[in-house]
Amino acid sequence: MALSKKPYRGCRDFFPQDMRVRNYLFDRMKTTAERFGFEPYDGPLLEEVELYKAKSGEELIGEQIYSFTDRGDRFVAIRPEMTPTLARMVASVHKETTKPIRWYSIPNLMRYEKPQRGRVREHWQFNVDIFGAPENLAELEVFSLITQFLASFGATSEMFSILVNDRKVVDAVFNKLLNLNQDQSYKLYKVIDKAKKVDEAKLDQMIKDIITDTEQFNIFKKYLSLTNFQDLKSFLDDNNLAKDCDSLLTLTEKITSLSLDEYIVYDPTIVRGLDYYTGVVFEIFDKHPDNSRAIAGGGAYGNLLSIFNEEPLGGIGFGLGDVTLRDFLETHQLLPDLSNADLDLLVVNTDEKHNLENIILSNALRKNQLRVESHLGKIKFNKIFKLAESKGHNVVAIIEERDEKLSVQLKNLKNRNIEFFEPNETEKIYKYIEDAK
Ligand code: HAM
Repeated sequence: MALSKKPYRGCRDFFPQDMRVRNYLFDRMKTTAERFGFEPYDGPLLEEVELYKAKSGEELIGEQIYSFTDRGDRFVAIRPEMTPTLARMVASVHKETTKPIRWYSIPNLMRYEKPQRGRVREHWQFNVDIFGAPENLAELEVFSLITQFLASFGATSEMFSILVNDRKVVDAVFNKLLNLNQDQSYKLYKVIDKAKKVDEAKLDQMIKDIITDTEQFNIFKKYLSLTNFQDLKSFLDDNNLAKDCDSLLTLTEKITSLSLDEYIVYDPTIVRGLDYYTGVVFEIFDKHPDNSRAIAGGGAYGNLLSIFNEEPLGGIGFGLGDVTLRDFLETHQLLPDLSNADLDLLVVNTDEKHNLENIILSNALRKNQLRVESHLGKIKFNKIFKLAESKGHNVVAIIEERDEKLSVQLKNLKNRNIEFFEPNETEKIYKYIEDAK
């Protein structure tokens, strides 16, 4: 039986046209992160499964991880997320590194998931994290970066929201108001995480399986119905919880001073599926009804370094997937037309006796930083312009004999202007091409 030409389920081949989009997205990620003073890092594709077991959570370990035992009997996994690797790396250098540490990365990650819109098995994830910054300031920096990153594509607050909650608020509601034990709290976290994905009756049933007391059930439903920071504040005041949750309340004031309030919305159902978050948690949510989903998610984690026996060093960051970003940009028509390569010049010859002159001219022009494609071998005259246009060139150079002398005919494919040069007039040829850009 012939082998399939398709990639492994849930994974993608990146043909040149896909690679153009990927590079475009990655360039924006790098530019924005570096504009905020973040430095790039990377880690290995494989990690010991123990690293994820320590803090990532049941769903990732039990259902999504690609794991195997290597030839040396080590139980390893293909990285399903970057944060544990980042924590391991930070743990090994943080003592001698000036704080705050600001690092970014764009790793490919693998999760065994059911492929569907916005969900694949291999995705690339823009990770941005800050360690050791004073409380609230790192959150503001990360929110500023996200809004500027999406604004660089033309996205506005009409198109996306940053849905915010705080695990301290959820813990206060669970422990002080509902008196839940650890097991009930853990289960209720998982229920809230699924709250938007199930209908109300199903949700109520899931809650009742954990909270049997009607009064407590109603308090919890009241919490779930909060839609803004004002209501949250009243709810916390009424229930004597405000002092346990003052960091989120202070953060909201600062958000307003930075004019970030047009993006940020309080959402009690945001708790995040990963276990290591301990503070503010958030998701970037697409407001378009056709693509109502999270583009990115993140939060603050206070104790991740403790798994390496290090002193606590708080971190906060987010991961933004390439697939969800592309869906968002396409839904809002913010992705430019990248169907063609953007090249400066195609050099062709119609007679094979000029094959070498073609390469010589191409090499001379490449020394001037031009992106030059040398068409290898002769080509029929009537095929030249179609080929050049299909490949996204701005200009074509045709090497041919005119009046028994070798000449270079340049044609600007945008305005159809034609000029003739001698092959050694590279400066003039260069200028012609620059002017055609
Ligand atoms: P996460 O919520 O698991 O967080 O993933 C973050 C983002 O990665 C999602 O919002 C989505 O854009 C993308 N993503 C995740 N899984 C898939 C998938 N199967 N297919 C396509 N895209 C996907 C984390 O991974 C945290 N480690 C992020 C973080 C960094 N928190 C702090 N720093």
